[in-house]
Amino acid sequence: MKNYAFYMTELNSLEKREIPIPVPEDDEILLKLEYVGICGSDVHYLETGRIGDFIVDRDFILGHECAGTVTDVGANVKNLKRGDRVALEPGCTCGQCKFCKSGKYNLCPNVKFLATPPYDGCLMNYMAFPANMAFKLPDNITTKEGALIEPLCVGLHAATQGNVRPGNSVTILGAGCIGLVTLLACKAFGATQIIVADVIEKRLNFAKRMGAHAIINASQSDVIEQVMALTGGIGTDIVIETAGSDITLSQTSSIVTRGGRIVLVGMGSDIVPYNFSTLMAKEADIKTVFRYRNLYPTAIRLVAGGNIKISDIVTHEFDFEETPKAFLEAIRNKRDVVKAVIRF
Ligand SMILES: NC(=O)c1ccc[n+]([C@@H]2O[C@H](COP(=O)([O-])OP(=O)(O)OC[C@H]3O[C@@H](n4cnc5c(N)ncnc54)[C@H](O)[C@@H]3O)[C@@H](O)[C@H]2O)c1
Ligand SMILES: [Zn+2]
Ligand SMILES: [Zn+2]
Repeated sequence: MKNYAFYMTELNSLEKREIPIPVPEDDEILLKLEYVGICGSDVHYLETGRIGDFIVDRDFILGHECAGTVTDVGANVKNLKRGDRVALEPGCTCGQCKFCKSGKYNLCPNVKFLATPPYDGCLMNYMAFPANMAFKLPDNITTKEGALIEPLCVGLHAATQGNVRPGNSVTILGAGCIGLVTLLACKAFGATQIIVADVIEKRLNFAKRMGAHAIINASQSDVIEQVMALTGGIGTDIVIETAGSDITLSQTSSIVTRGGRIVLVGMGSDIVPYNFSTLMAKEADIKTVFRYRNLYPTAIRLVAGGNIKISDIVTHEFDFEETPKAFLEAIRNKRDVVKAVIRF
């Protein structure tokens, strides 16, 4: 039994190294990883060495979307046993601050989140992790689906923040991984008209196959006009921005219906011109999303129940040994790679 990890040693460079197999502490499990999803944030760290104030300043392990099998448990662990298959929620929070105590633990200032400096990620064979952040997968969910629970939770949180209800209409701006998981979440929540806009035709066709009712190619037509034409001139109940571009952000106040809700998920420029008069005349709300909270059990039930087919978002699969190739592909071929996963 050996343990190897891929380290980011400099920009665009990954190196495989042997590391010790950790011994789980009393409240931890030892996890044998089986799948790790590559997230846009991992790619961004590898290409640029930073996201906002989080800076990679040493050899660093990427990866935060993961699932595998428990191979050992600490003395105090009662909820899991050897052989259980689990998905890990990657943010360990303090449980003590006012945000944790209010249930909004995603806002905990003391969070230790995998692959967010200074905390290493999970691109390794064996990892010790707090048992209370490991969620058992039922028999009818694969560990590949387990690794995709993490991005799915972002989509579920976006739909929750937008208060998406049965019969609602939704516009989703951007059809990358996050736009697509948001589409799956909105469908599961009962939205009956989902319009997806992107500038890449392939991604739009992907969205169509995954259940979008209408698609708009934003490089060929005016998104606001198209949404109005599709909604009898009133806009959609909810608009969810997942592209992270100034253009899409500025479209939200025109696309939302009167009294509707805008949800901001994409992370773009810090300061952007925005038409607040349009928004105020409609008395529309703006909500934001920071990761997710309390959603792993729901996400697992939705996948287990067949309500959400999460593996549909996977476009590329690589072996652990091919990790550098997987990242290279994700960097060079952004159009085609919607979600790549690493298989151990
Ligand atoms: N708030 C959070 O907690 C959270 C969590 C995860 C990701 N994110 C953010 O969500 C965003 C999306 O992530 P992703 O992994 O899906 O990225 P992605 O780059 O794969 O997807 C973005 C999509 O937006 C499309 N797009 C660009 N300009 C457009 C335009 N003018 N009109 C329509 N579509 C346009 C792109 O073609 C692309 O398909 C990123 O900004 C990411 O940082 C936020
Ligand atoms: Zn992610
Ligand atoms: Zn806290």
